[in-house]
Amino acid sequence: MLHLENVVSGYGKIEILHGVTLDVRTGEVVSIIGPNGSGKSTLFKTVMGFLTPAAGAIRFDGREITGLPPEEIIRRQISCVPQGRCTFPHMTVKENLELGGYIHRNRQEVSRALEEVFAQFPILKERRRAVAGSLSGGEQQMVEMARALMLRPKALLLDEPLLGLAPKVRGVILDKVLELNAAGGTVLLIEQNARRALEIAHRAYVLELGRIRFEGPGGELLADKKVRRLYIGE
Ligand SMILES: Nc1ncnc2c1ncn2[C@@H]1O[C@H](COP(=O)(O)OP(=O)(O)OP(=O)(O)O)[C@@H](O)[C@H]1O
Ligand SMILES: [Mg+2]
Repeated sequence: MLHLENVVSGYGKIEILHGVTLDVRTGEVVSIIGPNGSGKSTLFKTVMGFLTPAAGAIRFDGREITGLPPEEIIRRQISCVPQGRCTFPHMTVKENLELGGYIHRNRQEVSRALEEVFAQFPILKERRRAVAGSLSGGEQQMVEMARALMLRPKALLLDEPLLGLAPKVRGVILDKVLELNAAGGTVLLIEQNARRALEIAHRAYVLELGRIRFEGPGGELLADKKVRRLYIGE
């Protein structure tokens, strides 16, 4: 579904990703873990077209998307939730979600997508008239995921969705990811919380200093002594 081939990317002359190759297959949850500053968000921004790779290729759903601007990439039905809170706090939950459906051609399509995400996130249906800024951190993260799903994406990219959430709420968000995946969704999950991210991943990659250092099935990496010592702190 998503294939990166030797992707080199960064900011101006500063190279951060030094040739990253990875795959996300249809129906998979793939996690990317790695310490602060390893280039996870740079990878996210490069896939979504906010950064243009200096070399390498990115393919999505059989077509090359390398160098396309974000609005074109979103039209190919990849949707994303960037790192950090990004709801519009003074707009209602429903308005936030409707923004995610801006790409749909008419009102009916937006309403249909809205009904779908309300079915997936009943709590947001209850809170639809509340301003997003009044919701808890976990609920706001759900608004962001639901807004991304308004696009009816073929793949969803999440950049550190667990950041700043209490352990119990983290579980709720990860359960949502698993639920979306069980319903056929393809997910690329970027997380610093290595243990949790490996637990739910079919496959995972460890990024360090802009290079893939380890890759394999989530369970295998979780059992790997080196990975545990370096990234889980054992
Ligand atoms: N806009 C920018 N301009 C220049 N350098 C940047 C910019 N954004 C990030 N960097 C640098 O790129 C490197 C990788 O940053 P990135 O945000 O991709 O890391 P990350 O793995 O997402 O870290 P975190 O877990 O803290 O979110 C860091 O050294 C960072 O300082
Ligand atoms: Mg980051």
